[in-house]
Amino acid sequence: MKKVTVHASLEYDCLIGSGLLAECGPRFAAFGGSDKIMLVTDDKVASYYLETCEENLRQAGFRVYTFVIENGEKSKNSDSYLRLLNTLAEHHFTRTDSIAALGGGVVGDLSGFAAATYLRGIRYFQIPTSLLAMVDSSVGGKTAIDLPAGKNLAGAFYQPSLVLCDTNTLDTLEDQIFREGCAEVIKYAVIGDEALFASLEKTGVGFDRESVIARCIEMKKDIVETDEFDTGKRQLLNFGHTIGHAVERCSNLAIRHGQAVAIGMALMAKTLLPAPEAGRLTDLLRKFGLPVSCDFPAEQIFDAIRSDKKRKGNSLTLVVPEHIGNCVLQRMPMEDLKSLCVRALNQGE
Ligand SMILES: NC(=O)c1ccc[n+]([C@@H]2O[C@H](COP(=O)([O-])OP(=O)(O)OC[C@H]3O[C@@H](n4cnc5c(N)ncnc54)[C@H](O)[C@@H]3O)[C@@H](O)[C@H]2O)c1
Ligand SMILES: [Zn+2]
Repeated sequence: MKKVTVHASLEYDCLIGSGLLAECGPRFAAFGGSDKIMLVTDDKVASYYLETCEENLRQAGFRVYTFVIENGEKSKNSDSYLRLLNTLAEHHFTRTDSIAALGGGVVGDLSGFAAATYLRGIRYFQIPTSLLAMVDSSVGGKTAIDLPAGKNLAGAFYQPSLVLCDTNTLDTLEDQIFREGCAEVIKYAVIGDEALFASLEKTGVGFDRESVIARCIEMKKDIVETDEFDTGKRQLLNFGHTIGHAVERCSNLAIRHGQAVAIGMALMAKTLLPAPEAGRLTDLLRKFGLPVSCDFPAEQIFDAIRSDKKRKGNSLTLVVPEHIGNCVLQRMPMEDLKSLCVRALNQGE
């Protein structure tokens, strides 16, 4: 088992290892407080892991309540959020009670936002079960729900009290969803760890889960500790995401997030890195079964970037790769970004 401690507005541990799910009860009970816990999950994850988790929490003395949403991004909405708050209220949850999020990023983001706002904040624990949730969404305290106008438009910065990554849970994850998480792992390697990149080149998808997940969390911890509230360095985590989000939108979400980010990273590299380094990234993405290009015209991608609701002013901050293992933030006028899109999408492979 590996441990990474995050020193943010709250100090907490992230534990990574096999079999941790069956230890959640005593580990959560060690925090004290009351014995009530709301276990939030989705129907798919519930079918594999709810019983183990529930039983373990009961044995540790918890009174366990469950809240199960339908799996998928569409459940990360105001309806689920209000239902969850109302369920907490109906069962008289108080400030000393807690929430546990068992699932992927959807369950984690929704539970975290409910925890941040119910009674102005109650304790919550993360038990991420997707690779993306382990390396990214469960750590760092960004919580949110989607609004009809766009993704993650209502949310809060609110840190969990403990993150338990049971690597065994990845065995039941669909291959395509596992690979989507791999795109984020590759992202970490490009923004800050050439050695990780080189090791992924050797292992492909068969990488050592415990150590790779721990390394990614360590990198996220470093970034979050410097910029918890996302005003500077934390934006490095958006490498590949500006074009990636545009690709997602152009495809009406038919191209999934991880695949879109892979395309975004490959296009940025092709435009901004020397050819051999860009080739290394493209080869690695392909080795992981991830796409490296798309058929949308540059104009359409650029329009999608320009209409992003979170964009401010006539320029945006882009994550620019300098070489594999190092990226920098660069403010770029929209006009320059337009020509970058044209170069990225019109030059042949
Ligand atoms: N808070 C953050 O910092 C942050 C960072 C990145 C992404 N996110 C958010 O995370 C979400 C995406 O997360 P995700 O990819 O985990 O999506 P998800 O939660 O929808 O999970 C993907 C699918 O995998 C299934 N699943 C999860 N774990 C499983 C397991 N062990 N076995 C079998 N099936 C399993 C789920 O039921 C779901 O169908 C998005 O909403 C995104 O906005 C948040
Ligand atoms: Zn992402």
